[in-house]
Amino acid sequence: MARISVMTRRWSEPRSWTLETYRRLDGYRALPLALGMDPDSIIQMIKDSGLRGRGGAGFPTGMKWAFIPQGDGRPHYLVANADEGEPGTCKDAPLMTADPHALIEGMIIASFAVRCHHAFIYLRGELVHAGRRLQWAIDEAYAAGYLGRNILGSRFDLDITLHRGAGAYICGEETALLDSLEGRRGQPRLRPPFPALAGLYACPTVVNNVETISSVPYIVLHGVEWYRSFGTEKSPGPKIMSVSGHVNRPGQFEFPLGVTFREVLEEAGGVRRGHTLKAWTPGGSSTPMLTAEHLDVRLDFEGVLAAGSQLGTTALMVMDDTVCIVRACLRLTEFYAHESCGKCTPCREGNHWMVQILGRLEAGVGSEDDLDTLLDACDNILGRSFCALGDGATSPIVSGIRHFRDEFVAHYKEGGCPFEGSPLLSPALIGAHQ
Ligand SMILES: Cc1cc2nc3c(=O)[nH]c(=O)nc-3n(C[C@H](O)[C@H](O)[C@H](O)COP(=O)(O)O)c2cc1C
Ligand code: SF4
Repeated sequence: MARISVMTRRWSEPRSWTLETYRRLDGYRALPLALGMDPDSIIQMIKDSGLRGRGGAGFPTGMKWAFIPQGDGRPHYLVANADEGEPGTCKDAPLMTADPHALIEGMIIASFAVRCHHAFIYLRGELVHAGRRLQWAIDEAYAAGYLGRNILGSRFDLDITLHRGAGAYICGEETALLDSLEGRRGQPRLRPPFPALAGLYACPTVVNNVETISSVPYIVLHGVEWYRSFGTEKSPGPKIMSVSGHVNRPGQFEFPLGVTFREVLEEAGGVRRGHTLKAWTPGGSSTPMLTAEHLDVRLDFEGVLAAGSQLGTTALMVMDDTVCIVRACLRLTEFYAHESCGKCTPCREGNHWMVQILGRLEAGVGSEDDLDTLLDACDNILGRSFCALGDGATSPIVSGIRHFRDEFVAHYKEGGCPFEGSPLLSPALIGAHQ
C-alpha cells in the first residue's frame, strides 16, 4: 500500500502554518459549504464517513456528536484534546505546528454541527511552539472573519480559547481534562453522566482528538465516498502513523488505515543496520506489544485487535534485539506509577509495587514468584481501575511476559540482566527494589 499525503499535504510547504498557505491549498473551502448545510446533516455526513476517533479508542465521531441534546437551552462546548501524552505518540504536535488552520476549520465546522459557540483547545503545556502557531492561527482566523460574530455572514458565532495544561498524562483522559480546564486538579470523573450530557461546566460537551477534528474539513469538502476510498470498511480514512525507536528513518508517515506494519516499517527505513526486530507497539505504550511474528498485521482497529493488541494512537515504537524487555517494562511502569493520579487504589498502589518487582527482577535479585505476583497485580488492576490509565499500565507487562517469558526467567536464573550493554541499575536503586 502506498504512502499518501492527505492530512500531511501542507506540512512541507513554505510557511505552511499561515492562513495564506492554508487558503492556497484548499483551506477554508469546506467552511462555507458546512455553514450552508443543516447542522444535523453535517452530523449525518460524519456518521456516514465512518470517521472514528483518533485519540485511541476509535469511537465513531458522528455518533458522539449526535449524543449532544438539542433544544435544551444550555450552552454546548467542543474541546479539542491536544494533550498528546501517550508515550510514542507524536502526530498531533506536528499537525498543529505545521497546519494549525486544519484544526481550527475542523473546530468551526464541528461547533456549528453540535451548536457550540465557545470551543476550547486543551494543549499540552510543553508544546510551546505548537501553542505559538495555534495562537497565531486563531488570531489570523478572527481577523479574516472565520471566528467571532456572524462567521462569513452565516449568523453563526464562535470563539476559540487556547488553554495550556501543565503537562500531566492523566489530563488527556477526557473527564480529567474537563476538570483541569475548569481549574481543578485533573482527575477522572465518575461516569455516567457522560460529557455529552454533563461535561464542561456541567453542560453538553464533545471532546475529540486533534487528528479527528482536523479530518472533518476533508470529509465536508471532498465527500463521504472520497473519504471512504481510503482505509477499510470499518476503519476508513487516512491515518498519521508515528514511528519511533530503532528504525533508520523515524517520523510521521501517512497511510490509509489497513496498511500492514511491514509496509510502514519499510517506509521508515527498516530496523537499524545489523539488528533485527524484537518488539513493537501498535498504538503507544498502553497497547500490548507485538513481535516480529506480527509484521503483516493490518493497522486498522479490527486487524490489530485480532492480533491481540489495540490500534490506539498508531504510535509504532520499534524495539530491536538490543532491548531488554524487562527493563523496557520497568521504564514504562515507572512512567505509569509517576503519572497515576492516585484516585483509585488498584492503579495507585499496583503500579508502585510493580515498579519494585520489576526493579528487582532487572537487578537480578528477583524470583519465580515475582512473575506470578506481577501477573496477579495486573489482574487486579485491569478492569478494576477507575479509568483507562490503570488498564493501559498492565499492557507492557502482560504482553511482555506473554511473548518474552524466557527473558524474565533468565533474569532471576542468571542473577542479572542477560543483555550485553543494557544499562544496569545503580546499586542504590537495586537496594531500593530489594
Ligand atoms: C490516561 C489517558 C490519556 C489520554 N490522553 C489523550 C490525549 O492526549 N489525547 C487524546 O486525544 N485522547 C487521549 N485520551 C483519550 C480521551 O479520553 C478521549 O477518549 C479522546 O480524546 C476522544 O477523542 P476521539 O473520540 O476523537 O478519539 C486519553 C485517555 C486516557 C485514559
Ligand atoms: S486508574 Fe490511575 S489514573 Fe485513573 S483514576 Fe485510578 S489512580 Fe487515577
